[in-house]
Amino acid sequence: MPIPLIIDTDPGVDDAFALALAAASPEVELIGVTTVFGNVSLENTTRNALRLLALLGRDDVPVGVGASRPLVHPQPHLSSAHGSDGLSGYAGTLPEPTRGPDARDAVTLLRELLDAADRPVTVVPIGPLTNIALLLAAHPHVKAKIGRLVVMGGGVTGGNVTATAEFNVWSDPEAARRVLVEEDVPTTLVPMDLTRRCAVAGGWLAELAGTSEVAAALVGLTPDYLATYRRFLGWDGMAVHDAVAVAEAVRPGILTSTAFPVDVDCSFGPNRGALVVDRRLEVDAPKELDIALDADLDGLRAFLFDRLGALGARQ
Ligand code: BDR
Ligand code: CA
Repeated sequence: MPIPLIIDTDPGVDDAFALALAAASPEVELIGVTTVFGNVSLENTTRNALRLLALLGRDDVPVGVGASRPLVHPQPHLSSAHGSDGLSGYAGTLPEPTRGPDARDAVTLLRELLDAADRPVTVVPIGPLTNIALLLAAHPHVKAKIGRLVVMGGGVTGGNVTATAEFNVWSDPEAARRVLVEEDVPTTLVPMDLTRRCAVAGGWLAELAGTSEVAAALVGLTPDYLATYRRFLGWDGMAVHDAVAVAEAVRPGILTSTAFPVDVDCSFGPNRGALVVDRRLEVDAPKELDIALDADLDGLRAFLFDRLGALGARQ
């Protein structure tokens, strides 16, 4: 039986690849999508989620609209690596959705889907953790229905927004601290240290685009993001951060994880939003978080290509 899956997302180019991977994977059943501010405004992330699901032939998946800002302290606005509309300026090339968002807000949709589930649900937050913090604070009973959180976020050895903070955690550090440090839900964190190592090359994208119209549309969303990552990586490629987290949800164990005590820096100093990972060998800490630090990188890229390359066939 497939694992029920909910994705909490701020599309975003790599979020688009993550949604496509979920839609293309028979091991999981995508039962809901919730949106959050992040890469672009909530209005844009919601519109992008609806259009991407239309592209993927999954207009049946409810989309719950979530938080438009962080829980406590707004962070300074940053120009997005994902282009003006979150999809390199190409959101308009996607099909118009035939429906709007669900009448239920993100937290209500998450609660109702979890309450109704007859099996443990995997929840994959791939944006700021605001919706998930609100859910766990308002409806703690749903923790019993969450089989696992697979979170894309944080950097163990450095950040991408600041020297030490990664975008998703930095966007709402208080929410991230609540989810990653204070709550007791089984969690695998997929940090940017690993997702960056899983980056795919321009040639990989070009080959993928040749497999189907759906794949070509997906690759058509990448130009601005690819340009940003060419600069970051120093070679012609881009990180598909969020798709790496979904790969772990689809194939538990495809990433290699190790448990560490963690904290999130919620101060207002230079390390605000940093994930603090205690890698000392002998630490008596009450809570540990599974952090995915390794994988068969070529095997993972082959898995992504295999699934995304079959997208058209599965429509
Ligand atoms: C994360 O930040 C966003 O820009 C990406 O979509 C990903 O979720 C990587 O730091
Ligand atoms: Ca994202």
